[in-house]
Order: sequence, then C-alpha cells, then structure tokens
Amino acid sequence: MAQQRSVISARQDFPILQTQMNGKPLAFLDSGASAQKPSAVINVMNDIYERGYSNIHRGLYAISQDLTARFEEARKNIAAFIGASNENEIVFTRNATEAINLVAQSWGRTFLSEGDEVIITAMEHHANIVPWQILRDQIGIVIKIIPVNDDGILDLDAYQNMLSPRTKFVGAVHISNATGVINPINKIISLAKDFNPEIKVLIDGSQSVVHTPVHMLSTGADFFCFTGHKLYGPSGIGVLYGRHEVLQSMPPYQGGGDMIERVTFEKTTYKDAPFRFEAGTPAIAEVIGLAAAIDYVQDFGMEAIAAHEHDIYTYAMDALSDVDGMRYIGNVKHKAGIISFVMDDVHISDIGMILDQCGVAVRAGHHCCMPLMQRFGLDGTVRASLGMYSNKDDIDALVGGLKKVRELFA
Ligand code: ALA
Repeated sequence: MAQQRSVISARQDFPILQTQMNGKPLAFLDSGASAQKPSAVINVMNDIYERGYSNIHRGLYAISQDLTARFEEARKNIAAFIGASNENEIVFTRNATEAINLVAQSWGRTFLSEGDEVIITAMEHHANIVPWQILRDQIGIVIKIIPVNDDGILDLDAYQNMLSPRTKFVGAVHISNATGVINPINKIISLAKDFNPEIKVLIDGSQSVVHTPVHMLSTGADFFCFTGHKLYGPSGIGVLYGRHEVLQSMPPYQGGGDMIERVTFEKTTYKDAPFRFEAGTPAIAEVIGLAAAIDYVQDFGMEAIAAHEHDIYTYAMDALSDVDGMRYIGNVKHKAGIISFVMDDVHISDIGMILDQCGVAVRAGHHCCMPLMQRFGLDGTVRASLGMYSNKDDIDALVGGLKKVRELFA
C-alpha cells in the first residue's frame, strides 16, 4: 500500500484556499454545505472536457469507449469506498436528495400501502422528510418521528417503542448536518431488523462519508446515500447505495434512454439495477470527478482525516470558550467537526455578515432542518463546519470575528 499523505499538507491542493474574501485570507468554514475542490478533481474534469469528452454507453468510437470504461471503473471504486458488495449496488443520482426521492417513489410506492409506518428522526434534513410527506399525501402512509433530547441526541427508547407490525421503513441521518451529532446507526439498524428483518433501513450519509470511514455491508443497511459536492467532488452527482436484491425488486424511477432493454409502443422492458434507475445521459465528468475526489481522500485515509478534524474541532471549542454568550446546539463530546451555535442578543444573520467581513465563511440559517430548529425553539443557528483542509488559522479568524460581533453588540 502506498505511503499515505499527511492531512496537514492537503490545504495547498485547494486553489480557492489561497485566495482572499473581503480583503482577508479566506477562512472557509462552510464545508458542511459544500466542500472546496482540490486540483486533482478540477484537473480530471477539465481534462475530460478538453480532451476526452463524448457520450457514454453508446459510441463505437475510441473516445466514447474509453470514457465509458472510466465511468464504470468509477462505479467500482465508489462501491469499494463505501464497502458495498459490488458496483451493481451503486446508482448514480443528482445528489442525496434525489437518491431519497428515488427510494420513496420507487420502493415506497411499490411496497407501502395506506396505514404503513415510516419512521424518521427529528434531526433529518428536509431531504429525508419531504419525500415521505409527498408519499403520505399520495398513498396515506403514517410518518413517526424519533425525538431528540436537549443535547440533540436521539431517544432510542422512544424509537424502540414506536416499532410496530405496520413499520415498513426507517430512515436516519448518520451525522447531523445541523449539529454534527453522530447517530448510532448500527443500533438503529439492528433494532429495526431484530424487530422485523423485512423493515428496510435507509441511512443518509451525506456528512458521514466526509467525516468518517463507512462500510455498508457490515452495517446491514438496505439503502445509503451521499452527495459528491460535500466530499470534495463536483455538484450534480450523488450516490444511492442499495442492496442489490432490494434494488432488483424496485421498478424504474424515471423512464428514458439507457435504462431500457427493448422498447416497443406496446411494451418496454428494463435493464437490471443499477442501470434501470439511470435514465438519460448521466453526469459523466462528474462521476469521474467524484471518483477522483475519493482517490484523493484515500491518499490521506478517512481515519486520518477524521483525526485531523477532531484536533481542529477540539482547538476550536477551547478557543471559543473565550467568547461570551455562546450557546451550542448538539453539545455532545463525540461529534463530527460541525459547530452550531447562537449568541445571546445577536441575530444569526448579523453574525454571518460580520464574519463575512472578516473573511470567514459560515452558514447562518436553519440548515434545511426546520423541525430540528423548532425543537430547540430557534429559527436557525450559525454553523461553522470543518473540512480536511481546515486549520487553526481558520479557527483564530472565527474567534476574532466573533469577538468583534460581541464588541459591536455590547
Ligand atoms: N445540506 C447542506 C447544508 O447542510 C446544503 O448546508
């Protein structure tokens, strides 16, 4: 195995991190929304568009055949990265949101009936709430919510008590994008499967693939999804992992080119999974760009990236203790590199705007988790989210900016 690179050296690979924002060195602390891209990803994609682009799965000429091979090789590498059995368990989607909509509309509409129960958590992103509400309106399913306590931790006793003979599906986020709280997904999956092995479980891994190693086969999840743009890859490409037998049992989500075996006006037959779920020309350069991003993080190792982010997170929490009036949401010891907070007497938008003037990019808002914000009696929080390139200078800039906020609102 090749020698792994030190995570400290990653920052130089991200051109945007060498730039300024509002005349200050850029302290990019919004990686939870979208991570920045290393040259390795930018160059691979540029090279495709400059020297090797065509459609795939269709051309008999060399460029198309080469690109088709690279596209399918990417599927294999992505399968290996998340510990799937093989590449036939990897469906390419636009993003994690589309992956969950696919599950709701294909699996859900086929296998759920009126009165069947879907359990999700109170800390889901809207992407794992709204598709189930649409399905509720279409066929009358019942949605149950696992509550969170004041620290932002799931109440697993309540979860266990809500499992019932009508429970058909459980959907849970692995790491909360709003708070960084890490959910015990093995426990969530085993409680469902021990109750009834037929219950299907989906894990939203949009944050977890970025912050921690994941291994699908060992979790027993039926579905897992993530998106490329948070994993240092391009936007417009996401992944749905599905156990192959489950994917094979599902009808197409969208119809069109590339997903069919044979079309007549009387009847159409479909390819096997995963291809039956990939109608139309896919995001070709984006798939290969995502595989390049995965190669890139693997040069460092996910364990090492997680350890680096933990060091920066620990430094940040220590440095932030100097700032008065902070209230943290999801205040638990073991969490991913996401710091979510409000400040006494200061609106979150004012904090976001003052930090912007200091060169610090954070997100201020509901983080697409309105129900979780309501649980804490808030409209939103300020969120500083770390990436593999985050360093102590970023944190010093954040702390300096927050002290300025305090001075201005004293
Ligand atoms: N879901 C993204 C976030 O957490 C956009 O900010």
